[in-house]
Amino acid sequence: MSKEKKKAYIPALKYHWLTRFYDPLMEWGMREKKMKMKLIHQASLQPGERVMDLACGTGTLALLLQQSQPGVQVIGVDADPEILAIAKEKVKERPVDSILFEEGFSDQLSFSSNLFHHVFTSLFIHHLTLEKKKETFEEVRRVLKSGDQFHLLDFEKPQNGWMRAVFLPVQFLDGFETTSPHVKGIIRVLLKETGFSAIEETGQFVTIVGTIRIYKSFKP
Ligand SMILES: C[S@@+](CC[C@H](N)C(=O)[O-])C[C@H]1O[C@@H](n2cnc3c(N)ncnc32)[C@H](O)[C@@H]1O
Repeated sequence: MSKEKKKAYIPALKYHWLTRFYDPLMEWGMREKKMKMKLIHQASLQPGERVMDLACGTGTLALLLQQSQPGVQVIGVDADPEILAIAKEKVKERPVDSILFEEGFSDQLSFSSNLFHHVFTSLFIHHLTLEKKKETFEEVRRVLKSGDQFHLLDFEKPQNGWMRAVFLPVQFLDGFETTSPHVKGIIRVLLKETGFSAIEETGQFVTIVGTIRIYKSFKP
C-alpha cells in the first residue's frame, strides 16, 4: 500500500499508540455489547448469508455476528493493518471459523457488485469527510444485493444540550470536519441521497461521549 493511502484514514482513537486502549474503553465506557447486539438483532441473519463488517476495527462486531448466526460468512474490512492484527488475534481465541479480515478503504471496496446480504458499520462514518461519507455509502449500495440491508450505528444528532457538550471530546479527537455533520444529523440525509429506501431509525443510546443512533435501510 502506498504511503499516501496509509495517511488517508483516522485510526480508531486518532493515534495508533492509543489503539491498545480501544477495547477496554468500548467495553467499560460505552455499553458496547448492548449497542452492537441491538444492531445485529435488527437483521434476522440467515445461514448462508454473506455479511460485511465495514471498518471492523478490533473485530468485536464481526465476532458477535458470527456467534449470533454461525451459518453466516463474515468479512471484516478495515484500512488499518494494526487494528486488523488485533482482530485476527481475537478471533483465534474464539471457536468461530467463518470470519475473514481484509485491509481496504471504505470508498473503494475490492468486492464485486451485488455480493452481500448485509453490510454493518459501527462507530465509523464519523471518521470520514462529507465527500468520503458519500463515496462510502455509494460503495455500500454497490456491493449489497438488491433488496438487502445496510445496518449502521454511529454518533448522530444529540438529544439535548448535555449530549451535545459531551460529544466535544470526540470532536477534538477525531476532528471537527468529519464529526460536525453528525451534530446536525447527516446519516438519514445521506442514506436518502444515495438511494437507500425504507430508512428507519431503530434505536438511540445515551453514552458518556454523546448520542448514538442506529439505522436500518434497504438497497431497492
Ligand atoms: C472508531 S473505530 C470503530 C471500529 C469498530 N467498527 C467498532 O465499532 O468498534 C473506526 C475504524 O474505522 C477505520 N477506518 C477509518 N477510516 C477508514 C476507511 N476510510 N476505510 C476503512 N476503515 C477505516 C479505523 O481504522 C478504525 O478501525
